[in-house]
Amino acid sequence: MKFFLDTGNVEEIKRIVSLGLVDGVTTNPSLIAKEGRVFKEVIQEICSVVSGPVSAEVISLKADEMVQEALEIVEWAPNVVIKLPLTEDGLKACHELSKKGIKTNVTLIFSAAQGLMAAKAGATYISPFVGRLDDIAVDGMKLISDLRAILDIHGLKAEIIAASIRNVGHVEAAALAGAHIATIPGSLVPTLWKHPLTDAGIERFLKDWESVPQTPGHK
Ligand code: E4P
Repeated sequence: MKFFLDTGNVEEIKRIVSLGLVDGVTTNPSLIAKEGRVFKEVIQEICSVVSGPVSAEVISLKADEMVQEALEIVEWAPNVVIKLPLTEDGLKACHELSKKGIKTNVTLIFSAAQGLMAAKAGATYISPFVGRLDDIAVDGMKLISDLRAILDIHGLKAEIIAASIRNVGHVEAAALAGAHIATIPGSLVPTLWKHPLTDAGIERFLKDWESVPQTPGHK
């Protein structure tokens, strides 16, 4: 499974890129707003530190305006992917852009039917929102596994990005449910490698090491 970072924070991205863990980045208007910076500058800076796909979302609601916006955004960097909302206009824009060979990420997917529509319209990526479904007591992971089955049965090319990830359990379950990608908030990433038993283990090893006779010239 590939790992994307769900953030607009360049410093956060650089830190995790240095661990070799970043296959791509997703942003959305709320994440960009948090940075208090110009959208184009943020996207260009992210694209310069990440070689994989970087999703930048349009804010227009009409298909022709979405396409216009997308045509501008794709000029910003070669690895930009256009993020579109799952609406009738979003599907139309997705279809238009896919005919032009422009990569798209259709977002705000909450049902298998929506995911199927996006994949058929030519989306490169489809983003079901696991956490926001869990918030309303709907099983977000079932949506991931249903979508994976649908794509496989019908030979549809879109890749599933498990989005709205809130905890380690979501990442593990999304991997098991067949998501191709999980997009993870930067602040959550360290919780994926941290474990209290690892820390306790290191502490015990170092304590025990104190009783080992010193090797001359070695720590
Ligand atoms: C997906 O691409 C979205 O940016 C994101 O995962 C939304 O997550 P949230 O529900 O935590 O806002």
